[in-house]
Amino acid sequence: MSTLRRPKLKIGKVLLTKEQIAERIEELGIRISKDYADNPPIMVSVLKGGFIFLADLVRAIDIPIEIDFMEVSSYGNGTVSSGVVRILEDLSLNIEERHILIVEDIIDTGHTLRYIIDNLETRHPKSVKICTLLDRRGRREVEIPLDYVGFVVPDKFVIGYGLDLAQKYRNLPYIGIIEEEEIP
Ligand code: PRP
Repeated sequence: MSTLRRPKLKIGKVLLTKEQIAERIEELGIRISKDYADNPPIMVSVLKGGFIFLADLVRAIDIPIEIDFMEVSSYGNGTVSSGVVRILEDLSLNIEERHILIVEDIIDTGHTLRYIIDNLETRHPKSVKICTLLDRRGRREVEIPLDYVGFVVPDKFVIGYGLDLAQKYRNLPYIGIIEEEEIP
């Protein structure tokens, strides 16, 4: 038997276990594979938070999708959305006449997504749909139709599985809730 033990990084309270996340991603992958069977999309991951979700989601999809990345920043290092969106890194693929599926880790106010959708529309894609792992809809300020949602989560600060607290804890395998007073 191996004597290797995984180091434990623990913070906050577990909201979604890695098993719950994996199970939901399997379901989303099956739906996306079916819905796009005849027209595999370009899946656009919004960095940084979306990278782990994208990596697991694409492996649950069995049609020949393509992948591209976009990095935007809306929060800085704070815990509340500033509503100001900046493109830090743009797509590398041409999306004209292509079906686009934006993959996000979390939607809060909706400002980031609104900006990204409007920006992508100017490039004349065939369609733009949204897949988000988490929907913290209690914080919504701009209504956006979400096509695939992993989980609706309460209006609490969440970390792990790609989501950060001042750039840390993205590597937690689960999604945790951290209370204001626990923030180190
Ligand atoms: C998060 C998340 C979304 C955005 C959602 O990104 O990944 O892109 O905030 O917030 P909104 O709905 O209020 O606009 P963040 O700016 O924290 O960057 P990160 O992905 O690099 O952590």
